[in-house]
Amino acid sequence: MREHPFKLDARLNMAALMVRKGCIIADIGTDHGYLPVWLTRKGICPKAIAADINEMPLNKAKQTVIKYNAQDMVSLRLSDGIDKINPDEVDDIIIAGMGGDAITGIIARCNWLKDSQKHLILQPMTCAERLRKYLYENGYSICQEEIVIEHGKMYTIMLCIYSGKIVLPDIKMMYIGKSHDSNEYALEYLEKQYNRLISI
Ligand SMILES: C[S@@+](CC[C@H](N)C(=O)[O-])C[C@H]1O[C@@H](n2cnc3c(N)ncnc32)[C@H](O)[C@@H]1O
Repeated sequence: MREHPFKLDARLNMAALMVRKGCIIADIGTDHGYLPVWLTRKGICPKAIAADINEMPLNKAKQTVIKYNAQDMVSLRLSDGIDKINPDEVDDIIIAGMGGDAITGIIARCNWLKDSQKHLILQPMTCAERLRKYLYENGYSICQEEIVIEHGKMYTIMLCIYSGKIVLPDIKMMYIGKSHDSNEYALEYLEKQYNRLISI
């Protein structure tokens, strides 16, 4: 008997909403393994790779996989960033809960991400503006960006695809990104980023 899938928090739920149905995902820096287990158990993804650089979080992910009986769908991988993942294994790559600079470093090391068939779902905890700058300057388009609030904290989640179009971002593109287009919390995010810029 498989246990019922649990509820994701608003931050991870938004990342999950950006995953294409039927795609295989890699969750880089998976820690607890919630996203790969949830996405496979919900039938959104047939398979997933839960990857982490450290053994301890990977063991945590293993417990989640076992608890929700997802062993046939989720594989565990010890990997620094995307280093141990092959391009033909995955479609959508999620990197959530890390600093923007760490996410930038992981993307910069992986050349095969420069493929419009691959979708990147990124959720930086810090330095989102530097991540956006890197993306724009290196041919990635930010197609969608959403702001969510969880326990009073604001998070941004972006869906990025390689287009090859190199753009030199202005300050608005770097600090606000795409979030102003759609989201109910975007005004709050705009205000927060404005106050940060004023203080700089
Ligand atoms: C704060 S947890 C985020 C967990 C989950 N992704 C989330 O958003 O809730 C960060 C995880 O990233 C892992 N990590 C840090 N640097 C990494 C790297 N270069 N490659 C893979 N995993 C990494 C850490 O071991 C840790 O488990």
